[in-house]
Amino acid sequence: MATRTSATAFAPASVGNVAVGFDILGHAVAALGDRVRVTRRAEPGVVIRSISGVVKNLPLETEKNTAGMAALALQKSLGLSFGFELEIEKGIPLGSGLGGSAASAVAAVVAAAALVEEPLDRTRLLKFAMQGEAVASGSVHVDNIAPSLFGGLVLTVGIDNPFVKQIPVPESVRCVIVHPHMMLATREARAILKQSVQLSDVIWQQANLAGFLSGCYTSDLPLMRESLMDVVIEPQRQVLIPGFAEVKQGALVAGAIGCSISGAGPTVFAWAEVGDAENVRLEMVAAFRKHGLETDSWVSDIGREGARVVGD
Ligand code: HSE
Repeated sequence: MATRTSATAFAPASVGNVAVGFDILGHAVAALGDRVRVTRRAEPGVVIRSISGVVKNLPLETEKNTAGMAALALQKSLGLSFGFELEIEKGIPLGSGLGGSAASAVAAVVAAAALVEEPLDRTRLLKFAMQGEAVASGSVHVDNIAPSLFGGLVLTVGIDNPFVKQIPVPESVRCVIVHPHMMLATREARAILKQSVQLSDVIWQQANLAGFLSGCYTSDLPLMRESLMDVVIEPQRQVLIPGFAEVKQGALVAGAIGCSISGAGPTVFAWAEVGDAENVRLEMVAAFRKHGLETDSWVSDIGREGARVVGD
């Protein structure tokens, strides 16, 4: 059987956490993503040949690069006699809270898997990508990797043996993504979090997560509106994002179903019905501008398609 010698994969950006599911609930963002071209090389191991696109100053050393580590995890775990060369094209800004490190790791394993004869299911690819993601954030969380790989709104239960569940999203819902031009390191945004939470907040957050997921399954928009609210993490992190309270207020007044920090920030996301989404975007952009921040913004489908091979 002829074996493929190169493949290019695209992996979408992601919002993770989606407010109420810290480290466990994320969704893909169809509007932007990273691409990785993987070429077979004779020697085992992984070499990063180039990094281009909206971020260039990422480490070329395999062990310090999320895509490199993810591909290396695959290569070593399968005991392959050959290795990979990677060309990484970044479409997701660095330190944006849009799952850029996860997307590179996911695109690398999806492209590398296309060069391997043994069929690899997505749960195995998820575990390889998780090893890449750990390089960037210093912790293992799956709420960016799982939606980038699988697509849609994704709940992941478990780390060592992850169960991945794609949650239906009502057809009329779009996400609004507003990325202010500043950088926030995930490590920093995690370091400020308190290690204990009030019981009353745990109960409230549990109700919100359960309500939000139930609302998604049953297309109950009023229930989603009531429950898409993070009462644990967002209150602690919002100080890191200038103007956050006004951005959120603007989104809600313009009709958003909910609005919160995308991942570790500084990107802010909102969910809105298709007829409200553009107004929500404009209000959010205007609120950031009042605080001296220019932005990039998108109204996007909640990318139902996850990472995929797009060429050689
Ligand atoms: N769930 C993680 C966090 C994502 O919010 O810290 C970081 O990209």
